[in-house]
Amino acid sequence: RPAPGVRPEPPAISVVAHRGASEDAPEHTLAAYRKAIEDGADALECDVRLTADGHLVCVHDRRINRTSNGRGAVSNLELSDLATLDFGSWKDDAAGEAPDGRHPELGSVHETAADTERTSVLTLERLLELVADADRRVELAIETKHPTRWAGQVEQRLVELLERFGHTKPPPGTPSAVRVMSFSARSLQRVRAAAPAVPAVYLMQFITPRHREGRLPRGVRIAGPSVRILRAHPDYVAKAHHAGHEVHVWTVNEEADVELCRELGVDAIITNRPKQVRNQLKLT
Ligand code: G3P
Ligand code: CA
Repeated sequence: RPAPGVRPEPPAISVVAHRGASEDAPEHTLAAYRKAIEDGADALECDVRLTADGHLVCVHDRRINRTSNGRGAVSNLELSDLATLDFGSWKDDAAGEAPDGRHPELGSVHETAADTERTSVLTLERLLELVADADRRVELAIETKHPTRWAGQVEQRLVELLERFGHTKPPPGTPSAVRVMSFSARSLQRVRAAAPAVPAVYLMQFITPRHREGRLPRGVRIAGPSVRILRAHPDYVAKAHHAGHEVHVWTVNEEADVELCRELGVDAIITNRPKQVRNQLKLT
């Protein structure tokens, strides 16, 4: 207990690596997540989609065109189709040069394990293994994408995997290391019904009058507003805290926004740049 007159330290803000350390490495690759762990991220964020043959893969867009050398919707492709594609070289092209000095014209060369980790599609199962093998606690924030199309199959497969890795029954007194996020209240409710110990984050792109009062869907304890919402409605954080909710903000890459989040006392910052944000917050 702090001495009289001494203000307690505010709790540290959790830094969540959005799609991995995705400023430095191709989003949603094993390389991006390894880098995020090295950079000290408290948690890793990933989006999940179901392939045509029922595997959850970490891909943001409905189609693979932007982040791979293939084309088409994830939902129409099998994991074996995705496994033949290059999910990393687009990043080198965008940056002009690969971090190891290879010029993008040389293309993607699957020569080393590091190359493979930078260019291969990542399954959620592999990401769960990475987190399980980490030498410290690393949390995972998993976002279900377009869950309505599959009528519960995304959540069913997700809960099966979480069960297999022991995340649906954390030891008594230990907070769950995994949480599920979605813009869809229905998706969160499906997960909560099957796995009540897994916390849910309700993502918000726009703020409604209900949200402004700090209300969230039933059973959800974490609000996930965009940083734009906080810029426009800085009083939201206090309202959500007053209602007993944590606030996890996305996607916070600008220094001024990190400062805003610190001033408002948010609980987690979701960012493409975990190292820089940790440095700015002076987290050790
Ligand atoms: O962490 C939430 C954030 O990722 C939501 O937006 O489009 O990056 O999935 P998006
Ligand atoms: Ca996401």
